[in-house]
Amino acid sequence: METQIWAEPYKIKMVELIKMTSKADRIKAIQEAGNNTFLLRSEDVYIDLLTDSGVGAMSDRQWAGLMMGDEAYAGSRNFYHLRDTVEEYYSYRYMVPCHQGRGAENILSKILISEGDYVPGNMYFTTTRLHQELAGATFVDVIIDEAHDASSEHPFKGNVDFDKLNALLDEVGADKIPYICIATCVNMAGGQPISMENLKQLRQWCDLHGIMFVHDMTRVAENAHFIQQREEGYRDKSVREIVYEICDLTDAATMSAKKDAMVNIGGFLAMNDEKFYEKACGLVVVYEGLHTYGGMAGRDMEALAIGITESVQDDHIFARVGQVQYLGRKLRDAGVPIVNPIGGHAVFLDAAKMLPHIPQEHFPAQALAAALYVESGVRSMERGIVSAGRDKITGENHKPSLELVRLTIPRRVYTQAHMDVTAAAVLSLMAQRDQIRGLRFEYEPEMLRFFQARFEKLV
Ligand code: F0G
Repeated sequence: METQIWAEPYKIKMVELIKMTSKADRIKAIQEAGNNTFLLRSEDVYIDLLTDSGVGAMSDRQWAGLMMGDEAYAGSRNFYHLRDTVEEYYSYRYMVPCHQGRGAENILSKILISEGDYVPGNMYFTTTRLHQELAGATFVDVIIDEAHDASSEHPFKGNVDFDKLNALLDEVGADKIPYICIATCVNMAGGQPISMENLKQLRQWCDLHGIMFVHDMTRVAENAHFIQQREEGYRDKSVREIVYEICDLTDAATMSAKKDAMVNIGGFLAMNDEKFYEKACGLVVVYEGLHTYGGMAGRDMEALAIGITESVQDDHIFARVGQVQYLGRKLRDAGVPIVNPIGGHAVFLDAAKMLPHIPQEHFPAQALAAALYVESGVRSMERGIVSAGRDKITGENHKPSLELVRLTIPRRVYTQAHMDVTAAAVLSLMAQRDQIRGLRFEYEPEMLRFFQARFEKLV
């Protein structure tokens, strides 16, 4: 992989113009946004690396698919196309469309969780954990320790530590664990994959204890790419085959189709069990829409069905991850502290290392994201203490060991020159990092606070 060229397997047919801003414009914009990059107007952003969610570029085929939308209230043709595609590529027999990933998480959590349950997972994700908690469960992190260490080079930092999982089982018993929730390419760990071996062991563990195996498959194709590159016995398998094999090991899945599958909106909850499907149909009509469209338009389901087929092509995923690796290596080689190994969807700056003069209570990653925007117009996102929120019982801040800024690369959107500009901006910030000040809350929302919080600078 290191020696091969990651050039894009597509060419550009249409472009979207972006505004260049001055530093004075950006200082004003970030003040108005309360030092929170989520509150910036997109028009004021030059290179938008806030997220890879819903911001990918659709192909000409996907756009053509939009014109084939069957907007019938019930039984849209596009639903059946999507359902068949999910089964063909992801193995799951049943599927209800949802408006996006968290819609699927809501339905899943409401069906499977009872008050007082525990849900183990390979590191939390913000919306996933919140839905589990709202349904009455406690999330328990069972990821390996290496995942919490930004410098560890472990090739599969998304793996589950069975000692942690068994300790939970011994403590609460299988009756209190309705399912395990396993993400492929763990977002909060830095886009780190789980190995096929670990997934196979989890399947056995679930069978042994009669516990359901749920898969957060938001970035499954990127995970499959890493398995192909790093795990013995997978070199000659295609990403498509590996994706299918991963899904086939699990019982159900939530999908935010806005990532891997390259649509602007959409997702689904998929499963193999018919009774579970019936329950999902019952709830999807309450929270999303009829079971043949969930929260999606017919045309969006068509674009998604096509996006799924494109997302598992080896040349696509090689270029996609290749671009992320390119940016990451450029930063690492220049001495910028980042999470290693470089992830599948983003490069994560280690804000704790970069800004050792700012204590975690003063939000170093949040401050770094704001400073990067002012420096360059590049928008990134905090993934540290602000994102981690407060403990649902004690009300104390969770204090994650990873205090990161995420430079997330949208799929098929930016060029290598944009990556170079981004790297130059981070390097210039490195040179002036002593001047970056910490922040304090001006407004702290109760739930998912990172989205809408406002901060003021400490002097
Ligand atoms: N699971 C994972 C692993 C995610 O990364 C996300 C979204 C979701 C679930 C929820 O899906 O946004 O469609 O409701 N992650 C986005 C991000 C928001 O920027 O990482 P959603």
